[in-house]
Amino acid sequence: MMVALRGACLLVLFISAFLPPPQHAQDPAMVHYIYQRFQVLEQGLEKCTQTTRAYIQDFQEFSKNISIMLGRCQTHTSEYKSAVNNLALRVERAQREIDYLEYLREADICIESEEKTLAERVLQAAEEEKKIRTLLNASCDNMLMSIKSLKIVKKTMDPDGSWMKDARGNSAKVYLLIGSRNNTVWEFANLRAFMEDSTKPGPRKLILPLSWQGSGQVIYKSFLFFHNQGTSNEIIKYNLQKKMVEDRMLLPGGAGRAPIYQHSLSTYIDLAVDEHGLWAIHSGPGIQGHLVLTKIDPDTLGVEHSWETPCRNQDAEASFLLCGVLYVVYSFGGQGPHRITCVYDPLGTVREEHLPNLFFPRRPRSHSMIHYNPRDKQLYAWNEGNQIIYKLQTKKRLPLE
Ligand SMILES: *[C@@H]1O[C@H](CO)[C@@H](O)[C@H](O)[C@H]1NC(C)=O
Ligand SMILES: *[C@@H]1O[C@H](CO)[C@@H](O)[C@H](O)[C@H]1NC(C)=O
Ligand SMILES: *[C@@H]1O[C@H](CO)[C@@H](O)[C@H](O)[C@H]1NC(C)=O
Repeated sequence: MMVALRGACLLVLFISAFLPPPQHAQDPAMVHYIYQRFQVLEQGLEKCTQTTRAYIQDFQEFSKNISIMLGRCQTHTSEYKSAVNNLALRVERAQREIDYLEYLREADICIESEEKTLAERVLQAAEEEKKIRTLLNASCDNMLMSIKSLKIVKKTMDPDGSWMKDARGNSAKVYLLIGSRNNTVWEFANLRAFMEDSTKPGPRKLILPLSWQGSGQVIYKSFLFFHNQGTSNEIIKYNLQKKMVEDRMLLPGGAGRAPIYQHSLSTYIDLAVDEHGLWAIHSGPGIQGHLVLTKIDPDTLGVEHSWETPCRNQDAEASFLLCGVLYVVYSFGGQGPHRITCVYDPLGTVREEHLPNLFFPRRPRSHSMIHYNPRDKQLYAWNEGNQIIYKLQTKKRLPLE
């Protein structure tokens, strides 16, 4: 807890590195904004107990320092504006960290000092429930019935990698990311060009400024989201059109501490897209070996909600989300049969007992990735160097009470 808080304070202090030198220009509205954001941050920290008092003081002093520094600035340049924008982004990120600490604190040592009444807690739980229902609304009510067929669309030599289409929008492009860590993305005009190497034009080669780790990448609205190699929990949002890093976030909740799936050891953070948007599947802070599911806002990169699932990492090889439900694929000893034996529905309407036997067509080895695409409602998978499409059969699930 203390280490985490110190981390947050250091993070906040780190923001100072992005401040422009004081002789540069200044924008009073922006300063006001920054000051307000810091006040919110301070209020968040203020709530915590005496154990963190020293850090809060540090932080308050820093906040004061910033306003003094900005106050000294005079002129108005565009160069400065972008620096301030950058700072504002960093501040937002810091706030997300603080929010996460608040969440930890609630679950941890500070709880006794809060002395919340039972009624308040019940109210809070009800609000939380309401928030989740809004997040995962009734716009989508399918559940998986069976994996209907398998189609091998391409063969490469590499045991690890991922391939995908944009999970939103209507681009026909297909992307190929070979290996468990690299910075080269191959872009094919469409599925046919992907399948037939001889088709012209050939694939376009995109070199990312950073490398990915594992095979959890997804593409959502022309942004490639990936786990930044060499970091434990940084997610990069890369703009495929402008060819630049658009934003980045630190996934909280103990993400990246351990490989998520026992049979896919290079993946520490798996990303997923379903009808509800962007998700991350990762390791957690508490119960060892259980998967944690986190919903991420793809525009702001804020964490919308996080759930500890009962699904274990042992014998797992991949997972995907369909209509707000997590399906985890297992195979004993890393060989077939591959079967979904754990599902997790944050709303609780789909449970294991509702599911038929969800077996995959027989494959000799475990999958490097299996991702659902809500546009064509198929699974894109990588198995022993083969790029595979699994067609699915779904049915309506029980309505929410
Ligand atoms: C704030 O500024 C004072 C004086 O410039 C400096 O001594 C102090 O270390 C600064 N504090 C923080 C937290 O940045
Ligand atoms: C459900 O949420 C989506 C956005 O996540 C929204 O576009 C849609 O209108 C909502 N549908 C209902 C039935 O509330
Ligand atoms: C990416 O993969 C290629 C082919 O295996 C390899 O030559 C290259 O060094 C890799 N690049 C990085 C940054 O890992």
